[in-house]
Amino acid sequence: MADIRMTLATGARVPHQSAEKVRRALSAQGLLSPSLEPLHEEGHVVFPLLGEFSFPGVETVQQDFPPRSSHPTSYTDLLELEEPLRKKLPKSFDVIGEIVALRLEPELLPHRAEIGEALRKFVPGVRVVALDRGVHGKARLRELEVIAGTPPLVTLYRENGITFKVNLETVYFSPRLAREHGRVAAQVQDGERILDLFCGFGPFALTSLRQHPKTTAVAVDANTQAIALLRENAARLKVESRLEAYAEDAEDFLGRPALFDRVIMNLPREGYKYLRSVGAHVKSSGRLHFYGLFHRDQRNLAATSVQAALGPAEGSSPWSLEEERVVHPYSPSTLLMAFTLEKHGEIKNPRES
Ligand SMILES: C[S@@+](CC[C@H](N)C(=O)[O-])C[C@H]1O[C@@H](n2cnc3c(N)ncnc32)[C@H](O)[C@@H]1O
Repeated sequence: MADIRMTLATGARVPHQSAEKVRRALSAQGLLSPSLEPLHEEGHVVFPLLGEFSFPGVETVQQDFPPRSSHPTSYTDLLELEEPLRKKLPKSFDVIGEIVALRLEPELLPHRAEIGEALRKFVPGVRVVALDRGVHGKARLRELEVIAGTPPLVTLYRENGITFKVNLETVYFSPRLAREHGRVAAQVQDGERILDLFCGFGPFALTSLRQHPKTTAVAVDANTQAIALLRENAARLKVESRLEAYAEDAEDFLGRPALFDRVIMNLPREGYKYLRSVGAHVKSSGRLHFYGLFHRDQRNLAATSVQAALGPAEGSSPWSLEEERVVHPYSPSTLLMAFTLEKHGEIKNPRES
């Protein structure tokens, strides 16, 4: 039997889902032991610490840790690639529960299996690594190729203190919207009736329902599998009695009368064409959260064009802009932007004010 010299140290014991986030926080604070190996226990990772650590929700334990055979500080340390290719390795990637999804430049594609394996070994709690070839089609599904580990691309994933079941094979999801899901939910007033249009599996609606016990939500998506997953998540989170979910096209839903205190529209490429009819479903003094793509050079005109699309074409607008922010770059030339607009009871003529 190999003689492994174990070292007793304080460890931070964290669930798989939050392991990468905690690893980054510990590493940034210089608390992660570089000479001891993290331990993988059922559903948890235990990180060896250099000193005392206290963080809400993170359990600390005294435990024996084996030494690290080497001290990789990045997945790139586990790869043997020539320098020109090494420079092209991605510095960031998405961690969604047990899944890593990453994009690769074409020159790196012949090395995707090694890169996937390096990530699977390096990122704590990861079961499967998938190459992300972008979102396509009406359902905005991510085209994913498993390059290391074992499918399925289904996992539990935690954001804003809520655990969702995510299925990347059948439903759109991006962890880069986590902050938006939390930001919008924080603005919801308890008791509001909200509409999550183009809901996917409903992280906007579910986060709002979970945080506000008297709020009710209607959620709509044309992808029937998204609505099935939404219902499953709503039941897990015990909010199903306050949710109505419709697997139908937005155009059909918008053809029926209904008014909401708040509407969330997250279909960035095509959302514009629905703005006018969505606007009619917002109550007076209600809010609209709209997501759209804008060329970097036209960022200053973005809010004006959203207001123009809401109409009316002539005269003054019943909409005022409450907030505008860049969510993240979408491509080298485009930005994903978020807008919050308030609808006024009476149409104000800006020339009179
Ligand atoms: C960008 S995803 C939104 C995901 C979700 N809001 C979130 O935060 O994770 C857009 C969604 O709109 C749905 N969709 C696209 N066109 C639609 C339409 N015409 N009517 C209803 N849903 C549509 C897609 O199926 C997809 O789930």
